[in-house]
Amino acid sequence: MSSKKPDFEKLGERTRLIAAGREFTNHGIVNPGVFHASTILFPDLDSYRNLTTPYRYGRRGTPTSRAVEQAVAVLEGGHDTRFCSSGMAAISTALLCLLKTGDHILMGDTVYLPSRKFADGILTNLGIETTYFDPLISPAALAELIRPNTRMVFLESPGSQTFEVADVPALADVAHKHDALLVLDNTWTACHFYKPFEQGCDISIQAATKYLVGHSDAMLGTVTTTKEIWPQFHAAYEEMGQCAGPDDLYLCLRGMRTLDVRLERHMKNALVVAEWLTSRAEVDEVFYPALPSSPGHALWQRDFTGASGLFSIWLKPCSEEALAAMLDHMQLFGLGASWGGYESLVLPFNPAKYRTAVPWIRPGHGLRLNIGLEDPEDLIADLKAGLERLAKQG
Ligand SMILES: Cc1ncc(COP(=O)(O)O)c(C=O)c1O
Repeated sequence: MSSKKPDFEKLGERTRLIAAGREFTNHGIVNPGVFHASTILFPDLDSYRNLTTPYRYGRRGTPTSRAVEQAVAVLEGGHDTRFCSSGMAAISTALLCLLKTGDHILMGDTVYLPSRKFADGILTNLGIETTYFDPLISPAALAELIRPNTRMVFLESPGSQTFEVADVPALADVAHKHDALLVLDNTWTACHFYKPFEQGCDISIQAATKYLVGHSDAMLGTVTTTKEIWPQFHAAYEEMGQCAGPDDLYLCLRGMRTLDVRLERHMKNALVVAEWLTSRAEVDEVFYPALPSSPGHALWQRDFTGASGLFSIWLKPCSEEALAAMLDHMQLFGLGASWGGYESLVLPFNPAKYRTAVPWIRPGHGLRLNIGLEDPEDLIADLKAGLERLAKQG
């Protein structure tokens, strides 16, 4: 096999997943080495003075980090990628790298809650103001929210917990007309079923902790940008001293090689379970854009080539005791944060506590489900028994 970098543009999506980052391997070994490095020695004074060697210091990159960075950049369709120690670190780093005191940002009301907390806390303290908006806003209404100092529109689509699908190309157009950047939290399909740069995004961020790693055993985040934004982002990223550990980076690249087969199965299982949940009396609504009956389905069909296994349901009003009767005795669904791993998870949520642009006034409880790679019949049996316990308790 040639060690030459393939022309990724000409390759299919699945081939890219397998081939990207492979030129950073050595000695015929299929995967890159896990380089534990701080000091990297220079061969002579000239290379030290003129920085002619590819690797200069552990924090600034090794063959391990370059391999996985390139793999993510190819998959996202962006110029290049850098890693941070978690998805949230990637979000805060990207925003701090690109914003300054006096700037204003527009943030979708359905972003991951800690992204809001970062905007309301650290960004506010730095004199950067945030306005929250309905991610289903029309382009004209978004344009009205733009101020002379609006530097960024930050979106997550589908939204956290309630899975609203935004019209990203239309909103990106508005942002660009006003010299603002469109930044997307693109974690939901791990950039496999959604190509952010084809949709007008300038920066795509992922919690690689989820599907890229895929096995619930590492925390990582990625920032990928266009060629135009890269110099500004990368210089600031280096100034901030960000990097990630080699073992976790290796796990991420290893996870990525099977992303296609995992995501296909996550989606297949999630569709079966979501469809079944629509028939349950205890369930008020299922929020899963891949379901034809779900809001956002048309935009999902237009912009995505698949869905992940993460969706949520809204339960008809029930007591806290009924919810506990269901969740305390699940056999297969674990009660825990995060998602994107191979195992099924369930977590209660209530957007009423934090949404501001579109206040959530619906009585009841939300349950977010990470549908894993188990047999869907077993997952349905677990949910059925849980919903029956809930109904019995009332
Ligand atoms: C959509 C989304 N973005 C970002 C994050 C943050 O990722 P991490 O937990 O790796 O910090 C999460 C975590 O759940 C998430 O759901």
